[in-house]
Amino acid sequence: REMYQEIDLDKIDIHAEPPIEEPARQYYFMAKCRKWVKGFEQKHGRLPKSCVVNMGCQMNARDSEKLTGILRKIGYCQSDSEEADFVIYNTCTVRENANNKVYGRLGYLNGMQKKNPDMLIGLCGCMMQEPSVVEKIKESYSFVNLIFGTHNLFQFAELLFCAMEKHSSAQKKKADMTIEIWEDTDQIVENLPNKRKYFFKSGVNIMFGCNNFCSYCIVPYVRGRERSRRPEEILREIEALAADGVVEVMLLGQNVNSYGKNLETPMTFAQLLREAENIDGIERIRFMTSHPKDLSDELIETMKQSKKICRHLHLPLQSGSSKILKKMNRNYTKEQYLALVEKLRNAIPDIAVTTDIIVGFPGETEEDFEETMDVVRKVQYDSAFTFIYSKRTGTPAASMEDQIPEELVKKRFDRLLKEVQQIASAKAGRYTGSVQKVLIEQVNEQDAHLVTGRMSNNSIVHLPGTKERIGTIADVRLTECRGFYYLGEVVG
Ligand code: SAH
Ligand code: SF4
Ligand code: F3S
Repeated sequence: REMYQEIDLDKIDIHAEPPIEEPARQYYFMAKCRKWVKGFEQKHGRLPKSCVVNMGCQMNARDSEKLTGILRKIGYCQSDSEEADFVIYNTCTVRENANNKVYGRLGYLNGMQKKNPDMLIGLCGCMMQEPSVVEKIKESYSFVNLIFGTHNLFQFAELLFCAMEKHSSAQKKKADMTIEIWEDTDQIVENLPNKRKYFFKSGVNIMFGCNNFCSYCIVPYVRGRERSRRPEEILREIEALAADGVVEVMLLGQNVNSYGKNLETPMTFAQLLREAENIDGIERIRFMTSHPKDLSDELIETMKQSKKICRHLHLPLQSGSSKILKKMNRNYTKEQYLALVEKLRNAIPDIAVTTDIIVGFPGETEEDFEETMDVVRKVQYDSAFTFIYSKRTGTPAASMEDQIPEELVKKRFDRLLKEVQQIASAKAGRYTGSVQKVLIEQVNEQDAHLVTGRMSNNSIVHLPGTKERIGTIADVRLTECRGFYYLGEVVG
């Protein structure tokens, strides 16, 4: 199995017919791309640079690592700057402003491509699953070379090679985009290369897609039906990560609590966590995201017993009004949500609870909004992501009557944000003076004598230290709390 990722591309016969089976087919196309890269090197006297820009959630971030891994294998060097020879945007479409950002930046890329005619531009990710988007790009952004979607990301090498060939043969002719979008898939291709952003922590996909169809949300339409990866594959990946120096994994899925339902041998998420717990070298396990409707007692018990599962649960509320929750198709009421948080805190008193909240869903009255404020005050979230409702064409909520006027939503949003921040900062200091385990993640961006890390509950700590500490877990005394983060120092 590891064989694939260590495969020497130069040993692949690129004049043979391409293999049918995956991932062998993709390795064959990686070898072809590699030849193109060598040609580029000869022409320009340097290796081409690639830049993968991630725009979405953790799931997208993990996908971007897969793209980067393939580009590296092909021979590109990586760049953080879009002044590169291949730039690909891995897009998000969960809210309208995510889309607008892409169109804005495409104009800028066009300018760079004019200066560097061998530059290739690609687009992928959730936004590309919307036919209207692809139409618009064909119409108005015809300089884009490559477009693919979420379901066939594994074909990246094959599609990139197609774009490279078109570029070489048709350079001065009218641009000819390579476009391949699938509507859905049940295929999961394992064993492709990937390049982690951090050497000591990694996301791990445990499932893809979503079946919940919350009425405001585009994700089920752009990510397809829910499907779980086989536990053997997941555990093998975590073992390989541990062997490669990873100490923290984050298990990723749109609703991890429904993991395993569609497997040949069904398995619960809690069971999977217990298996992951046994893997030596892994010190911390996080996961994202939990839907309140599916959070089981078994999971709470598993978290409670665990030495490795972090003391943090992200539990999206979306709205505190049972009426709105019903219209959102969330399948829980305000009371059920509050009871769940209470049960969780009774079992694990030190757990940090965070959430997502949408303001201004169609039909939200002042009373409904007050219900949300009420839950926020009762739960006392450690932090909350607040969003203004964004109308997503194709979702049921987009065609609901009584959409709320913008000014009203903005006022509610500001009130909510203020409340959320006040509560979070009042709660933040509660560990001051104590000693906590902190995973050091990076050198502080403002001050090179400091490093920054996270506690199990996801709180951020800055402390004196140098880059050698990155990736280690230290015992840190929290000396002071400043707003949302701590200052601390290593003990012992
Ligand atoms: N699967 C995750 C959420 C993924 S999207 C879950 O169920 O929790 C991340 C967040 O974006 C959601 O929790 C929601 O708060 C927000 N969101 C999704 N669609 C939105 C929309 N149309 N307008 C505003 N916010 C939205
Ligand atoms: Fe969207 Fe709901 Fe699925 Fe989360 S659970 S991705 S909010 S449909
Ligand atoms: Fe965005 Fe797609 Fe994630 S729409 S939030 S990148 S699943």
